[in-house]
Amino acid sequence: MDLSTTYLGLKLPHPLIGGAGPLGDEIDRAKALEDAGIALLVLRSLYEEEITTEQMNSFFFEESHNDSFAEAGSYSPDHVTALGPDEYLEHLRKIKEAVHIPVMASLNGVTPGGWISYARLLEQAGADGLELHVYHAASDMTMSAAEVERQSIEIVREVKNNVRIPVAVKLAPLLTAFAHFAKQLDVAGADGLVIFTRFHRIDIDVTELDVVRSMPLSDSSELPLRLRGAAILAGRVNASIAITGGIHTGVDVIKATMAGAHATQMVSALLRHGPSHVRKVRREIEAWMAEQEWHSLNEMRGNMSLQRIPDPAAYERANFRMALR
Ligand SMILES: Cc1cc2nc3c(=O)[nH]c(=O)nc-3n(C[C@H](O)[C@H](O)[C@H](O)COP(=O)(O)O)c2cc1C
Repeated sequence: MDLSTTYLGLKLPHPLIGGAGPLGDEIDRAKALEDAGIALLVLRSLYEEEITTEQMNSFFFEESHNDSFAEAGSYSPDHVTALGPDEYLEHLRKIKEAVHIPVMASLNGVTPGGWISYARLLEQAGADGLELHVYHAASDMTMSAAEVERQSIEIVREVKNNVRIPVAVKLAPLLTAFAHFAKQLDVAGADGLVIFTRFHRIDIDVTELDVVRSMPLSDSSELPLRLRGAAILAGRVNASIAITGGIHTGVDVIKATMAGAHATQMVSALLRHGPSHVRKVRREIEAWMAEQEWHSLNEMRGNMSLQRIPDPAAYERANFRMALR
């Protein structure tokens, strides 16, 4: 059975990737993931603000700590490991020495500027690729969608000018013209599109008058939004497509592949079940394919995408109307 895939030009034995987050914080866990067969690992993000101010940013961790019940579905780290820019490079070097699988670094920023040159240092430290997370908070009433997009595209172009390793761009789902923006990133040279960012949850504690932030772990119900995104792009961009968000089972991976994904990232599933979950999902994919008589993922990739639909927008509106009848 052939599960092999090519993501960002990298030949991988199967599409199961460890997504950006704490999975690569510790060398031992990275090694355990490699032993379990993960095809590639993306490290947590280094933020523009951390590079420009050289300050440690424990934002993510503060959020996670608000719900300390791992069993209840939130991630809460045993200890805080937020890394400043220099520590990030050092950590990347150590991880690269410890494992043989490709390791990608992740940069998170929104404004074009000097911090982008950091991409080259990440390449020099051994990163096999870069994932750019261009999440924009979109609360500035004076800034148009076109300007936000223009900045992101400029960042991609600049990063591409700075490095030779492949660059993937992680997108948010809440965009007015998602397909157009994705195509512009593709034209700007993005080697991969990672869909979609999963937002942290914000709630209000009405007695304490406090804003409660948390990062609950996902489940498979988050996948359909991503399937739609991949199905829209499949076959219409040169960039590889990765799905992040709601990949938990072998069937989730099959669905993602049918929608057009070359790679499927897992974070929540691996935090919840540990590295051995990689093996389980792989076995589930193989069992399903054997039962349904599929021989390779390549032959099913994109078979459920909108690629052959002449007018995807009209098709989607028709389905939307029918679903509400
Ligand atoms: C604890 C935690 C930390 C994360 N840190 C990052 C990060 O540093 N950079 C990033 O781009 N995404 C980060 N993410 C988002 C994941 O990469 C992923 O996109 C999201 O969790 C959806 O995938 P999942 O359903 O497999 O969890 C984080 C997620 C979690 C749960």
